[in-house]
Amino acid sequence: MLAVQFTIETAIRVAYLIAAVCFILALKGLTSPKSARRGNIIGAIGMLIAVGMTFTHGIHNLIYIIAAIVIGVVIGIPAARLVKMTAMPQMVAIFNGVGGGAAALVSYSEFIHSPDPHSFAIYQIVEVLLGVIVGCVSIAGSAIAFGKLQELMTGRPITYPFQQVINGVVATAIVILAFVVVFSPSVSILLIIAILALIFGVAFVLPIGGADVPVLISLLNSFTGLAVAASGFAIDNTLLVVAGTLVGASGTLLTQMMSKAMGRSLPNILFSAFGSVVTAASETGGEVRPVRSSTPDDLAVLLAYARKVVIVPGYGLAVAQAQHTIRELSDELKKRGVEVFYAIHPVAGRMPGHMNVLLAEANVPYDELKEMDEANPEFSTTDVALVVGANDVVNPAAHDSPGSPIYGMPILHVDDANAVIFLKRSMRPGFAGIENELLYNSKTTLLFGDAKDSLTKLVAAVKSL
Ligand code: TAP
Repeated sequence: MLAVQFTIETAIRVAYLIAAVCFILALKGLTSPKSARRGNIIGAIGMLIAVGMTFTHGIHNLIYIIAAIVIGVVIGIPAARLVKMTAMPQMVAIFNGVGGGAAALVSYSEFIHSPDPHSFAIYQIVEVLLGVIVGCVSIAGSAIAFGKLQELMTGRPITYPFQQVINGVVATAIVILAFVVVFSPSVSILLIIAILALIFGVAFVLPIGGADVPVLISLLNSFTGLAVAASGFAIDNTLLVVAGTLVGASGTLLTQMMSKAMGRSLPNILFSAFGSVVTAASETGGEVRPVRSSTPDDLAVLLAYARKVVIVPGYGLAVAQAQHTIRELSDELKKRGVEVFYAIHPVAGRMPGHMNVLLAEANVPYDELKEMDEANPEFSTTDVALVVGANDVVNPAAHDSPGSPIYGMPILHVDDANAVIFLKRSMRPGFAGIENELLYNSKTTLLFGDAKDSLTKLVAAVKSL
C-alpha cells in the first residue's frame, strides 16, 4: 500500500515538474514573435497537466468544480477569440484580476476553514496574509484598470485632496492589522484587512491615467504572481509557488522594461497623475498653426521614387486595422525597387509588442522589423519616413523640451529623414496629450484621414504610376 501511495505521489511530483518546465519553456517561447505561438501552446499544455493533477488530490465538491470549469470555458474561449487586438490590454487586466482574486480566496479559505487558526505557525499566517492582501489589491486594481481602458469610466487620472495621505493611512492600517493577526489570529480582522486591501487597490489605481494603465497592469500582474505564490505556500502546493514566482518575476521585469522605454520611472508613472493636464493647442483652444497637407497621388510619387522608405507604425495603425494595407503598400514599393523596413518603437501602440503582433498578423517578414536602436542610425540615409498612426514615439519634445511629460523618453529619430509623411485623422495629440512640433516641420507633409483609407488610396496611386 505504501509502495502504491509512493508511486502516485511520485507521479504527481513528476507531472508538476513537467508542468513547471512547460511554463518556463512557454516564457522562453514568448520572447520572440517567431516562437510566441509555440510558447503559448506549451504553456497551455503545462496548465492542462497542472489542472488535471489537481483531481488526483481526493478533492471534494466535484460538481461545483466542474460547473466552474464549464463556466470558465464558456466565457473564456469566445472572449479570447473575439477580442479585438486593441482591447487586449483590458482583457489581460480582467483575467489578471480574476487570478489575483482566486489567490486571495484560496488563502482566505485556508485560514477560515482551519479548525483552530491559533494552531498556524507565524510563517503560515504571513503566507495567508500576503495571499489575501496582494490578491485583493490585484483584483480591485485590475477592475478599475479594466473600467478605464474599456472607457466605462474616465481614462484621466482621478485625483482628490490628500490622496496620497489617505492611501498611506489605508496602507498603514493594513500593515498594523496584519501584525495583529500574526500575533492573535482572527478571522474577522482578516476580513477587515481584505476589505481595506480592496479599497487600497481602487485608491491606488484611480490617479493613474489611462495611458499609463498598461504599465500598471503589468505591475498588477506581478502582484497576482506573488499572491499565487503565497497561496501556494499556504496550501503547500509547489506548482502554485513555481508558477506564481514566474509570473511575479516576469511581470516585474516587464514593468521595468516598459517604464524604461517610456523614459519614466515607475514612481513617476504610479504617483504623478500623468495625463491630467492636456497641453495640446487643439484641446486648449490655442492658436491654430499652418501645416502642409497633400493628396495620395502626390505622396505616392514621393514614395515610389524614393530609394529608402522607413515605415513607423503606431497606435493609429491598430485603431484603423490597417496592417494588411500597409503591407500591400510596402510590397508595391519593393516591387519598384524601393528599400523598405519598419521601425518599431518599444512602446508604440498600447501594449508591449503591439506593433509586432499586428504586423505578424499581416505576415510582414520578421527581418523587415527593426527595433529602435537598430532603426535610428538609418534615418539619416532615409528618403521618406512614413509615420502611420504614430505620434508620441516620434515627438522631438522627448529630447527638446525639458518641461514636457515625455521628456527623456527615447524616440525614433524620423526628423533625420529627408521627408516625413504623417497619416492621421486630425491635429489631435497622441496618448501623452501633447503637441508634436514635427507636424509643423518644413520636411513634414500630412495626409489626413483614417489610416486604412489613406493607405488604400496610396496603394492604388502607386500601382497606377
Ligand atoms: P500615440 O502617441 O497615442 O498616437 C496615435 C496617433 O494615431 C494619434 O496621433 C492619432 O491621431 C492617430 N490615429 C488614431 N486613430 C487613427 C486612425 N484610425 N487612422 C489614422 N490615425 C489614427 O501613439 P504612439 O506613437 O504609438 O505612442 C504610444 C503612446 O502610448 C506612447 O505615449 C506610450 O508611452 C503610450 N503607452 C504605450 C504603452 C505600450 S506598452 N505600448 C503602454 C502605455 C502607454 P488622430 O486622432 O488625429 O488620428
